[in-house]
Amino acid sequence: MTMINPGKIKKDFPIFRVKVHGKPLTYLDSAATSQKPMQVIDAISNYYRTYNANIHRGIYEISEKATEAYVESKRKVAKLINAKGIEEIVYVRNTTEAINLVALSWAEQNLKKGDVVLITEMEHHSNIVPWQLLARRKGISFKYVRINSAKDGLDMEDFKEKLEEYRPKLVSVVHASNVLGTINDVKSIARSSHKYGAKVLVDGAQSVPHMRVDVSEIGCDFLAFSGHKMLGPAGIGVLYARSDILNETEPMFGGGDMIKDVSLNSSVWNDLPWKFEAGTSNIEGGIGLGAAVDYLSKLGMQSIRKHEEELTRYALNSLSEIKGVKVYGPGIKNVNDRVGVISFSLQGVHSHDIASIFDREGIAIRAGHHCAIPLVRGVLGEPSLSRMSFYIYNSESDIDRAASAILKAKEIFKMV
Ligand SMILES: Cc1ncc(COP(=O)(O)O)c(C=O)c1O
Repeated sequence: MTMINPGKIKKDFPIFRVKVHGKPLTYLDSAATSQKPMQVIDAISNYYRTYNANIHRGIYEISEKATEAYVESKRKVAKLINAKGIEEIVYVRNTTEAINLVALSWAEQNLKKGDVVLITEMEHHSNIVPWQLLARRKGISFKYVRINSAKDGLDMEDFKEKLEEYRPKLVSVVHASNVLGTINDVKSIARSSHKYGAKVLVDGAQSVPHMRVDVSEIGCDFLAFSGHKMLGPAGIGVLYARSDILNETEPMFGGGDMIKDVSLNSSVWNDLPWKFEAGTSNIEGGIGLGAAVDYLSKLGMQSIRKHEEELTRYALNSLSEIKGVKVYGPGIKNVNDRVGVISFSLQGVHSHDIASIFDREGIAIRAGHHCAIPLVRGVLGEPSLSRMSFYIYNSESDIDRAASAILKAKEIFKMV
């Protein structure tokens, strides 16, 4: 396992040469979107400068080169998550679109009135609203697995009871929470769900960028994630789906590229995964994502995970020493059960004030409901939370700066 060296890594990221309010940037908001290394920026710029052309269409050199680069990026993604091959890798815009694609195609075609989709109280809105929309369209219902507040994890007893009671057709669950940081045991969730005949969708937005995620080991049917959270550009995301499921599913969008043949009255669909990618693709996005996967793979997902685990332990320790700070998610003894996302509140101070004070210090953190209102407001009972999240370019000194900024906030708000 290689040691992650954030000082060295930072040199690959031009953004860290930028000053914020005259101070060096400390970026603690990678759960929202990650920064981009030169290798990714160069891959995109090189495509535009030297082989910009549409893919799959041109019988000429630069088009063939663009097609190969796009397909190669899918091979890299397939390898990263251990999919069978590129036929299981559908490019979409982001995690949200990947989940919506499942709702609008597979679920739309296979679920009927009264069928149940089982989700959890820990979900991002992107894994709640598509099912609410499906419920409106088709009369399905959705149920929530409760959170065990003592553990800041899913209540697995409740999960099993709901499987038994509702016999859901789909279980759709977040792998790593963007609020609590909790890593859910998706392997055991998939195994139990399959026993009841349910398909399993894993929201990997916060796991795929930070740890080894192996679809064959987990045994999930669908996995959704976003390129922009894993060093890649925005506007490119991935829906992994088992090829037998994709084969049996009708496409959602029709148009160019997704067909083999078109007559006046009907069409023959293209092979996988192209059947699900109508129209001109986000070619530069795919190429940029390929470069991002190269960057991550070179470091090694296990090394990345270890680095972030150490940072999380360090941060939990630092925060525990500051009176008035409440931290959410699994505690320091269970650091293995969480990713590098730490939501916290400071007694008596609104999260937006905290984020503004951090900003004046050159530190970027997130404040608000984190697109998980049922969790933040409903389960945790907080109007909003501050959140810091880590990646490969963060070091302990970033956390020290964050801890000093909290002390500053306490001073400003005259707290002892
Ligand atoms: C757990 C989780 N799921 C889904 C999403 C949605 O990702 P995107 O906005 O890239 O679609 C996010 C974004 O923060 C997330 O954290």
